Amino acid sequence: MLKTGDFVLNAQADPAAVYDVRRLSVLSLEEADFARSTISGWPGYAPTPLVDLPDIAREAGVAAVHYKNESGRFGLGSFKALGGAYAVARHLIQVIAREAGETATVDDVLAGRYADIVASQTVCCATDGNHGRSVAWGARTFGCRAVIFIHATVSEGRRKAIAAFGAEVRRTAGNYDDSVAEADATAKREGWTVVSDTSYPGYRAIPRDVMHGYTLMAQEAYDQLPADRLATHQFVQTGVGGLAAAVCAQGWQLFGTDRPRTILADPTRAACWFESIRAGEPVAVTGDIDTLMAGLACGEVSDLAWEILNRGADAVVAVEDRDAEDCMRRLAYGDPNTPPIVAGESAVAGLAALLAVAKNPVARDQLALTADSRVLLFGTEGATDPVVYERIVGRPADAVARQAAL
Ligand SMILES: Cc1ncc(COP(=O)(O)O)c(C=O)c1O
Repeated sequence: MLKTGDFVLNAQADPAAVYDVRRLSVLSLEEADFARSTISGWPGYAPTPLVDLPDIAREAGVAAVHYKNESGRFGLGSFKALGGAYAVARHLIQVIAREAGETATVDDVLAGRYADIVASQTVCCATDGNHGRSVAWGARTFGCRAVIFIHATVSEGRRKAIAAFGAEVRRTAGNYDDSVAEADATAKREGWTVVSDTSYPGYRAIPRDVMHGYTLMAQEAYDQLPADRLATHQFVQTGVGGLAAAVCAQGWQLFGTDRPRTILADPTRAACWFESIRAGEPVAVTGDIDTLMAGLACGEVSDLAWEILNRGADAVVAVEDRDAEDCMRRLAYGDPNTPPIVAGESAVAGLAALLAVAKNPVARDQLALTADSRVLLFGTEGATDPVVYERIVGRPADAVARQAAL
């Protein structure tokens, strides 16, 4: 049984490797720039804050810890707002090109110039919450229909949040991977388009768009760091790995061999990245994978993410649910020099992984974590389910947020 702080170095990692866009054919800076210019033009766009956590840095014995707080992203509560909605927009633009023979922009779509074509489209996806919210929000923003599939243990609060964007929500039996299969089969039958955040053989273009959307978060964080004090390490939590791969690829392309080490944080109860990095090839974990970290409850790695992380990730660290809960409380109650932060269950795995390996001299040595290290964390969600949040933290999220604003 895995426990928090267990780690595996990636035997296939190659710190000297150059990011080869042609070989990887996955993510490029050019398309990341395009995603950035598109998304930053959407109504309500603002970079999310990068918060210093000096007390945690002291405890972890490193020079700095920076936390990219995604809880306010587009009012959706998570970084996922960047990916699914962007992929919906890209899909609609392609349909317009096919049906009207015209090159539309997102502004054209937002202005309703191709409303008939757009309204004829249905997008769908499987989700454990945040991705479905993003797809539903994108569909409503751009004017098409969305049907979102959720599995048995997705909370009622998360279901309601998706439905609030006007999507039809269907609950399926089984776990996340079963809901992926159900979404796929229904889309084939109905002629809908699957906008998934995970890729599998023969399905790459849309998850690639999703990941290009995520690169904006990494780019913002790198821009917010002082130019002479770039991060040496980035701890990124993994579900299917699209997020970590997007962050890793962006840092790799921008900084080459000076890139931050990428350390994956994987739930012990949904440890597909831990097992895959350990085996040196994708390994699916089965069962109910019922981690509290709902956004990370995935049993299979995304193909595209694997192509980047199998060489780009340096290590993977396991995280148990109870340590994620501790980190949520720690951020909510604040530290003497750090204001309270609302962080959801899936937001804090990177922090929990950092705190665990920082205590372990062998891990510190192998991960080159020293008193000079500067660590970047991605706080990928706020209280995306306020009921679950309050149960864990003991205070409502809005009370924590109010205190943070004082
Ligand atoms: C809040 C949050 N953090 C991290 C992740 C992990 O992203 P990925 O599945 O791309 O690894 C998710 C996925 O849903 C999420 O919702």
